[in-house]
Amino acid sequence: MDWDAFFTLHRDLPREGPGGPEDVAWALATAGTRGAVRVCDAGCGPGADTETLAEALPEAEIEAIELHAPFAAAAAARCARFGPRVTARAGSMAELEGPYDLIWCAGALYFLGVTEGLTAWRPALAPGGRVAFSEPVLLGGPEPQAVRDFWEEYPAITDEAGIRERIAAAGYRILGTRVITGAAWEAYYAPMEARIADLRGGEVTPAPEAALRDGEREIAAWRAAPDRIAYLLAVVAPE
Ligand SMILES: C[S@@+](CC[C@H](N)C(=O)[O-])C[C@H]1O[C@@H](n2cnc3c(N)ncnc32)[C@H](O)[C@@H]1O
Repeated sequence: MDWDAFFTLHRDLPREGPGGPEDVAWALATAGTRGAVRVCDAGCGPGADTETLAEALPEAEIEAIELHAPFAAAAAARCARFGPRVTARAGSMAELEGPYDLIWCAGALYFLGVTEGLTAWRPALAPGGRVAFSEPVLLGGPEPQAVRDFWEEYPAITDEAGIRERIAAAGYRILGTRVITGAAWEAYYAPMEARIADLRGGEVTPAPEAALRDGEREIAAWRAAPDRIAYLLAVVAPE
């Protein structure tokens, strides 16, 4: 992966994976998270969900952590309007301190591994704390070629039963799950398509052609199987 090219394509996109405010709202309701809680947005990307969490939890203290410093800076700028109760910094979610009432992690836990990440986060959870995370999932039945193409760089992908096993292996129980397909993915890809068109039209600094083609291939694969390419959003708590 040419990361410079990847980030040229992804810079300034509103979010870095599928999911939206309705998914955050569902997770907060399922987790029972409300009031003056402490929340971590782990692997926050450019901070779309950090902003949603801050709006949904007006008394909460929210810390967003992101490995890629320009994304962390984008999240910090985006959340500046909330004042010091919302912070975003560059760092690794592998080393969370907490204690957090909720660790929210949209499309990033697979970098640590579901079992490994949940195990590492257990000491960072406050009593009664929860983790809400979204993870690539196979929906079962014969897989269209587009699904295989889409996930070819994530060979550890499994189905919902497999994700449940990985959660159980970390000693967590499941409070609820929800499949993310369709509109949330469209909302992720529409700005990326517009950015590819801008880059091709020379309106922004040209990106290497390979990165644009990678983006187009990814979007085309999703469009070929939009009801079969999915994330599973899970809300879990330590046993
Ligand atoms: C698919 S993106 C999702 C970003 C964001 N949650 C969103 O939905 O827009 C995954 C993010 O995880 C970040 N990431 C990967 N490993 C990380 C780590 N160890 N600590 C913090 N962030 C990490 C990546 O830089 C990337 O921004």
